[in-house]
Amino acid sequence: MADSTARDILVTSALPYANGPLHLGHMLEQVQTDIWVRFQQSRGHNCRYVCADDAHGTAIMLTAEELGITPEQQIEQMHAAHLADSRDFHINFANFHTTHSEENRVLSESIYLALRENGHIAEREITQAFDPEKELFLSDRYIKGTCPRCKTPDQYGDNCEACGATYSPSDLIDAKSALSGATPVDKQSLHYFFTLPAFADMLKEWTGSGTLQPQIANKLSEWLDAGLQEWDISRDAPYFGFEIPDAPGKYFYVWLDAPIGYMASHKDLCEREGLDFDAVWSSDASSELYHFIGKDIINFHGLFWPAMLHSAGYRTPTGIFVHGFLTVNGTKMSKSRGTFINARTYLEHLDAEYIRYYFAAKLGSGVDDIDLNLEDFVQRVNSDVVGKVVNIASRCAGFLRKGFDSRLEAECSEPVLVQEFIAAGDSIAELYESREFSKAIREIIALADRANQYIDEKKPWVLAKEEGRETEVHAACSVGINLFRVLMTYLKPVLPAMAEKAEAFLNCSLDWTALDSALVDHQVAKFKPLLTRIDPKSVEAMVEATAAAAAAKTDNTPAANSEAEQDDNTIDFDTFAKVELRVAEIIAAEHVEGADKLLRLTLDLGGEQRNVFAGIKEAYPDPALLVGRLTVCVANLAPRKMRFGVSEGMVLAAGPGGSDIFLLQPDAGATPGMVVK
Ligand code: MSP
Ligand code: ZN
Repeated sequence: MADSTARDILVTSALPYANGPLHLGHMLEQVQTDIWVRFQQSRGHNCRYVCADDAHGTAIMLTAEELGITPEQQIEQMHAAHLADSRDFHINFANFHTTHSEENRVLSESIYLALRENGHIAEREITQAFDPEKELFLSDRYIKGTCPRCKTPDQYGDNCEACGATYSPSDLIDAKSALSGATPVDKQSLHYFFTLPAFADMLKEWTGSGTLQPQIANKLSEWLDAGLQEWDISRDAPYFGFEIPDAPGKYFYVWLDAPIGYMASHKDLCEREGLDFDAVWSSDASSELYHFIGKDIINFHGLFWPAMLHSAGYRTPTGIFVHGFLTVNGTKMSKSRGTFINARTYLEHLDAEYIRYYFAAKLGSGVDDIDLNLEDFVQRVNSDVVGKVVNIASRCAGFLRKGFDSRLEAECSEPVLVQEFIAAGDSIAELYESREFSKAIREIIALADRANQYIDEKKPWVLAKEEGRETEVHAACSVGINLFRVLMTYLKPVLPAMAEKAEAFLNCSLDWTALDSALVDHQVAKFKPLLTRIDPKSVEAMVEATAAAAAAKTDNTPAANSEAEQDDNTIDFDTFAKVELRVAEIIAAEHVEGADKLLRLTLDLGGEQRNVFAGIKEAYPDPALLVGRLTVCVANLAPRKMRFGVSEGMVLAAGPGGSDIFLLQPDAGATPGMVVK
């Protein structure tokens, strides 16, 4: 049943950078948002989802330069690609705009002028690193040099990846521009600042108002207690963005006009469809406003954005819904491991609804990271969606068609059971509303289990063979179809394409508002397969395609590194020099249950122990013989989660394979931990 009064709700997800393709991390966010929006719509609310590309900034300018196109061409191509990716994941945008739009320019200027009018814009000269060859100011990520603490070369301008030190770019030894290799010089320039500290009280109140997730409210309180800084909102030419009014050669920093892009996208929609913009954005707006974002951009949405809105006389968001990051097989997405999966690569191998279901089954209202475990993914989707939900309909449809012309029984034989399924919708709706999708899915699948149990008890396939039991067959299958209808209504926000097919089969629309009693004396259509099982080979092919693309292209964001791209598998000397080879003593070795080729080795690297899985079982069938031996291992390989545990390195071996593999052995005199040169 629907809520009694329809709510007006505007929802956004973060605007993806027009600098590169969408990946599964982006899709986690868009799917989460889309499920929530579709749920609200199913409940009869006026809920609209707007998004856009985030088109401005230095990175986009440099990417375009590298590709030999204009930034406008780059963002246009990306806009089309992003839109197609989202569409094919069934993301139901009311509008997908761009921050490089007239609407956004007008709104950004007017908001800036309002801030200035209110005395919330400060000006002062700052000194910054400048690339004299490229003639542009360098942000920290475009400066590289040797870490002042541990002396590791080739570190970024703000922190050292080797020792974790943080510093300012001027502390780097032998700093160089990552863009040209030139030595940066210090240069002064006038910058514009948003006086964030003036909003400390307003933000404290907003943060404490109870609408934010507790972890987020705590984080914001920490920042507020530590004291706020003025926020630098200007960048010098050359910059791809909007020029600041009355400040020639100065541009809005990308993060100033990015959130205004939410408004601009909505404005564009309102103009096209004759909707009321002010009803959402004015200070006394009655509409609700929610932003779905990842945990890396909380400060922009929880501090700068509400403060800007407040100063400029607009409303503040009703809520900010923060999610964690997507990991794949337990670790950060990685190109070389084939787990930095682009949205398009996924779609080339797998149906969008598989991962929509999997994300839903894992998402909660918190900010914990979400792991896509590829084995679990296959198992979960096949067992729940295909094995349980689709199964209900496919078990009943055939009998219904053969004996009863696909017409449901005239009076429901199990009204109580059907009503129980419908009544469960209240708690499922509450879970959706509070973004506890994994709990909602658990309840829905528990109902699917009950539906299957009901059919198992009735055994229509047995009854159908017996004389005079047609009514019972008809009853069992009609009830089964009714239960399926209720379940698919609950799953429709997650599985919109499958729900559409189910609607065609059931010959009715699957909206929450339409669920009140069983369908009776109702004609259904011919049953067609709703979703097929995931073939694990498709997942493998997707991972291989991702890894192959990564190997062919060391980095697909050219601006992020200035080194010449490699077009084959050769690595340059610097990359090789990063490999840390060390002598290791095998202090334990054992078989791994269930693994044909693996041995589990415990290595001693001179006081430090590592667990490593090695595919050398055929060559060393008796692991006990390995104990005490020295070998060479790659000590700085990122840990890898395997089916049997985490592998924290790799031992080096040579040979054609199978039983002819030989562990490398250092010369006499080597000791555990020693570096191999
Ligand atoms: N352009 C800014 C957002 C501006 S919003 C006014 C940006 N873009 S982004 O492309 O880097 O990220 C877009 C969204 O995707 C962010 O919410 C970010 O947290 C999310 N994700 C990016 N990688 C992610 C994962 N690996 N996992 C989950 N979400 C991730 O930030
Ligand atoms: Zn260091």
